[in-house]
Amino acid sequence: MGFSVPGNIIKNNDLVQLMETSDDWIQSRSGIKERRWADKNTTTFDLAHEASLKAISKSGIRSNDIDMIILGTLSSDYFFPGVSAQLQESLELNNVGAFDIKAACSAFIYSLSIADQYIKTGMAKTVLVVGAETQTKLIEKSTRGRDIAVLFGDGAGAAILQRSDNQSEILSTHIHCEGKNIKNLWMEAPGTSPGSWFEENKFNSERFTPYMNGREVFRNAVKRFPEVINEALEFNNLSIDDIKLIIPHQANYRISMAVAEKMGVNASMVYSNIHKYGNTTAASIPIALTEALEEGLIMKNDYVILAAFGAGYTWASAAIRW
Ligand code: COA
Repeated sequence: MGFSVPGNIIKNNDLVQLMETSDDWIQSRSGIKERRWADKNTTTFDLAHEASLKAISKSGIRSNDIDMIILGTLSSDYFFPGVSAQLQESLELNNVGAFDIKAACSAFIYSLSIADQYIKTGMAKTVLVVGAETQTKLIEKSTRGRDIAVLFGDGAGAAILQRSDNQSEILSTHIHCEGKNIKNLWMEAPGTSPGSWFEENKFNSERFTPYMNGREVFRNAVKRFPEVINEALEFNNLSIDDIKLIIPHQANYRISMAVAEKMGVNASMVYSNIHKYGNTTAASIPIALTEALEEGLIMKNDYVILAAFGAGYTWASAAIRW
């Protein structure tokens, strides 16, 4: 694992200069104290590249062992092609398959799920899986956009998955989507549907920034997280007592604590670093997993569950024996 975040720290009180908000409102609603914002010249690719180099170095593989790249993002550098293609070029990987996954906050687990299937079927041996975002470039940093602007941050996390004979294993992944909720958390434009492009020179800026129905998202998140964690437990005949750590997508500290309560576990079992980075969408789980490892919270043979919920709605889990 490896991660990268921009150096530019934005504290809650820095946001007060840009919009009507307060440190107290942000911390009490979300647990966030600060987040990182990429500067103008730092792109999603830059963060993905740095995180990947760290993961490659820590895993001890050579980069040309990688035979597939899967990258989750909703803030790619270009409308097309994907960031995975830029990454492939920068890592000098010759002609290996590379593609992006657009499953918002669940994209890292979706990507992990695909990588796992490729490895288990023998079609791939070493897969680079990345979640990377510079989503704060898309948000409106003013009072009108404050419900979103205070929650999100930028970053990237990367994992190397490799076929091996040891006990460490992705035991299962479960992915879900409920497309009827598309409009509760979305960014309509730029897109190809009527009205979502620069029609007749009319630029509707609201359509070009993310929209979130915060309460609906909250209500669904606290339902789907426990549901998909329990699905992973049941599938693997595990009980919650077997699990060392749950690493949820870092959406909101209140959501994570609701998950802890519903699962009947201590708050410390649900990993959180949202106070430092905010919600980094597809990057939040690999960043959290890297930090949890660095903090010594996960040891060999420990059972870990990753869980995510986000736009779509999408939600997902992965059960791992470390
Ligand atoms: N600062 C100050 N006030 C703000 C604000 C901000 N940054 N953003 C919104 N408000 C205001 C609203 O305008 C509203 O004002 P009104 O009551 O006068 O209309 C009020 O705060 C809403 O407050 P409240 O009802 O307490 O909000 P909430 O408890 O629903 O919390 C969220 C709002 C967004 C933090 C919450 O709904 C949430 O966490 N949702 C899920 C978000 C999430 O995780 N998204 C990503 C999923 S991957």
